[in-house]
Amino acid sequence: MFNKLLSLFIILFGLLACSEGPKENDDQALKAIIDSALVFAEKQALLMAEKYKDQEGRLPRTYEHGKDVSSDSRWWCSGFFPGSLWYIYENNQNQAVLTYAELYTDRVEQEKYTTDNHDVGFMIYCSFGNGYRLTKNKNYEEVMLTAARSLSTRYDPHVRLIRSWDHNTEQWQYPVIIDNIMNLELLLWAENYTGDARFKEIAISHADKTMAHHFRSDYSSYHVVSYDTLSGTPHLKQTHQGYSDESSWSRGQAWGLYGYTYLYRDTKDERYLKQAQHIADYLIDHHHMPDDYIPYWDYNSPDIPDTYRDVSAAAIMASALVELSEYADNNRASRYIQVAKTQIKTMASPEYTANLGENGCFILKHSVGAYPLQSEVDVPLTYADYYYLEALTRLKKKI
Ligand code: GLY
Repeated sequence: MFNKLLSLFIILFGLLACSEGPKENDDQALKAIIDSALVFAEKQALLMAEKYKDQEGRLPRTYEHGKDVSSDSRWWCSGFFPGSLWYIYENNQNQAVLTYAELYTDRVEQEKYTTDNHDVGFMIYCSFGNGYRLTKNKNYEEVMLTAARSLSTRYDPHVRLIRSWDHNTEQWQYPVIIDNIMNLELLLWAENYTGDARFKEIAISHADKTMAHHFRSDYSSYHVVSYDTLSGTPHLKQTHQGYSDESSWSRGQAWGLYGYTYLYRDTKDERYLKQAQHIADYLIDHHHMPDDYIPYWDYNSPDIPDTYRDVSAAAIMASALVELSEYADNNRASRYIQVAKTQIKTMASPEYTANLGENGCFILKHSVGAYPLQSEVDVPLTYADYYYLEALTRLKKKI
């Protein structure tokens, strides 16, 4: 009898241990962190939405020196706050959030005609793209398609890249910045939506040429590559927002990682998967990557560790790594997801998450816009919040 009871106890204990192992406990704890981060994000974003609701055409930009800074839709970041509201709505289905998501998305609509820079992809895909993904609002289709056509006008078939900027023409013949890899997602959507192969040809050509010329042999990337318009080959490789031409500007590295990850998702081209993995490995193994995986603003800043972290780079990287872990081989996948979890837990801690109603009603503190220009240094930024919410949403679906 005693032996039978003992066996039963051992079996029950074994079953309990199986169902509540360390991994399950970790995931439960992480789930609680994610849920509470999303509840906070909803409250903070509603305060932000209320603040600007009667300021016609205005969108949040940052909070600097104790003051709110807003922008009109022309600023490259105009789509991120509406996009954040869409991610919050996706998680909580709150009708008040939906109403604000639609209001702020509409404020960006006129940018569908933007042809004087590449940022139309950021502006429209993060706002209307997420709105369309969640609601299938037919009116949003036309906005996205018009935006994709506008972006395509910046493609020169001779250079075979989308031109990023039109300024500094005395210095750059045809500047392409690594950030531009992010805007191809809109074109891939347009190809899928219309069946017009031209959109995809542009995206692939831009992605391939960027892979060939923006990356160094260690898979770090330059910020700006300017092409000779006659030969179509680079004549300058420089930085604009990083520490030096040969340094690894942190957000640029994160854009590259994110870009080649979704390019693999949308094309299933193994070259893009390899590229994304190489970039991820370069970043994770970098000797200046801190233990909490929130990068300094430039991996080669000579002031490390006495300089600023850039939480926007961490948020973009975390979101990309959660997705990349879906495609990578087992060893890499578990490494990528571990790094993303560490980043997300760190961002959700009081070190990086603001208090309710503080920080200009942004969610995250401590991002860096452009250190060399002394612009937006150690401030909240809309894109840090946006990619953090995307990372939370993606990770929540996985655990
Ligand atoms: N796309 C501009 C930036 O990352 O600062």
